[in-house]
Amino acid sequence: MVLPDQEYDPKRALRAAQRRRPDPPAPAGFTIRDAVAGDMPHCRAIYNHYVENSTVTFDEAPLSHARMRAKFHKAQEHGWPWLVAVSGPTDDGEVLGYAAVSSYRDRSAYRYTVEDAIYLGPAATGRGIGSALLRELIGRAREAGFREIVAVIADQGAEASIALHERQGFKEIGRMGRVGFKFDRWLGTVFLQLSLRPSRARRADTRP
Ligand SMILES: CC(C)(COP(=O)(O)OP(=O)(O)OC[C@H]1O[C@@H](n2cnc3c(N)ncnc32)[C@H](O)[C@@H]1OP(=O)(O)O)[C@@H](O)C(=O)NCCC(=O)NCCS
Repeated sequence: MVLPDQEYDPKRALRAAQRRRPDPPAPAGFTIRDAVAGDMPHCRAIYNHYVENSTVTFDEAPLSHARMRAKFHKAQEHGWPWLVAVSGPTDDGEVLGYAAVSSYRDRSAYRYTVEDAIYLGPAATGRGIGSALLRELIGRAREAGFREIVAVIADQGAEASIALHERQGFKEIGRMGRVGFKFDRWLGTVFLQLSLRPSRARRADTRP
């Protein structure tokens, strides 16, 4: 069938019903909850994306399921908060990202200091989820009795993470240059630190 020329005019405005529908909006809501063992495959997939495609982590080989499970087990043993953000208004949505703390150093005098880690799936970034997760993580670390949180962030490619931490009150306390080498280039680290006031419940405690 031959159509009139005007049917082929690429500049012709489409009627509303003919226009390509925009991509469905990203889920507006999300829920933050404690991570459970069943979340670990999702956390692992999110983390390994950044291992393989970015310098925001200095790991170069993807984490195995066993290694991720072991990290989570250790966090549970030590009472280190590990949170996930899931899509939607209830706890059973899809895992969008996670935030966790772990020991800053193994030596015992560091026991009131933790280091945080926060990773969102690429599609979940830039919507305030990281801010909400980190805010909640800070509160949970305070409740658990920790007094300092340290963030060790790559000095290249992690601008969002530096901005995120500064917005939550972290202060830059130093930098180290050329301590990492990934994807054929030298990388440094930026150290940020947040001091936590003890929660009211903890002030009556015997801890410092
Ligand atoms: C870093 C990360 C957790 C931040 O979470 P997010 O949900 O994307 O961040 P938010 O939307 O809450 O924004 C937090 C702040 O960072 C800023 N920001 C976000 N993306 C940015 C970017 N690419 N460059 C600079 N600033 C950025 C925002 O403007 C916001 O500041 P505002 O409150 O003044 O607007 C997330 O982007 C992520 O997972 N990135 C990849 C993994 C990563 O870098 N992890 C940290 C390793 S140390």
